[in-house]
Amino acid sequence: VEQALSDGPLKGKHVVVTSGPTHEPIDPVRYIANRSSGAQGTAIAAALVALGARVTFVTGPASVPPPFGVDVLSVETARQMRDAVMNALPADAAVFAAAVADWRVSNAAGQKMKKDGSGQAPALEFAENPDILASVSQLAKGRPSLVVGFAAETNDVVANATAKRARKGCDWIVANDVSEATGIMGGSENEVTLISDQGAEQWPRLGKEDVARRLAERISAEIA
Ligand code: CTP
Ligand code: CA
Repeated sequence: VEQALSDGPLKGKHVVVTSGPTHEPIDPVRYIANRSSGAQGTAIAAALVALGARVTFVTGPASVPPPFGVDVLSVETARQMRDAVMNALPADAAVFAAAVADWRVSNAAGQKMKKDGSGQAPALEFAENPDILASVSQLAKGRPSLVVGFAAETNDVVANATAKRARKGCDWIVANDVSEATGIMGGSENEVTLISDQGAEQWPRLGKEDVARRLAERISAEIA
């Protein structure tokens, strides 16, 4: 069985996949999070394994279990995810499906914050997290030959995602519309546009597994 699983067009290729949300602590018992389930990243990792890739799966606290056959690196915060990704390189390709928190709480408390009886709410301060996708895309040495980002947008999806691809320096962006009306965020389907130097290619609304299989096939065609 193991032999069968490791066969396929991506045999011998290493792919790093990030997935899930990150949690950014407020104090030891509270955190800032987002609605990512990790389903899309998990499906992509599984589809890459099915094509024979060795996959390092760097995951935040997701609500779905990691797929079989990957090397799992579990992290909590964006900074931990960045460190895990950097340590996992070199790779032939990297896919950034995680919903990384854009900000962390810079005045997080070392002890549980307590009400002081004054009725005053605490003020949280924020600092921007490192951009993992941009850091890897812009590596001078050891850049994976294919770097794939996601772009979660609620409006002007293709324009925003095309600008994001240029700004970050990744090869492909998988853009999706996460506006509330689509029901995409946290759901089982995805409707994406693949943006590359060839332009924007709209895919039909598909189950996340089918989006994953299609993307894995494209990755395979590019790097195998
Ligand atoms: N990403 C990342 N590190 C971050 C933020 C985002 O690696 N600190 C990656 C995501 O995994 C995704 C891509 O960058 O592949 C785009 O994420 P998105 O949230 O759409 O873009 P941002 O650059 O954070 O811009 P904004 O949220 O302001 O639209
Ligand atoms: Ca963001």
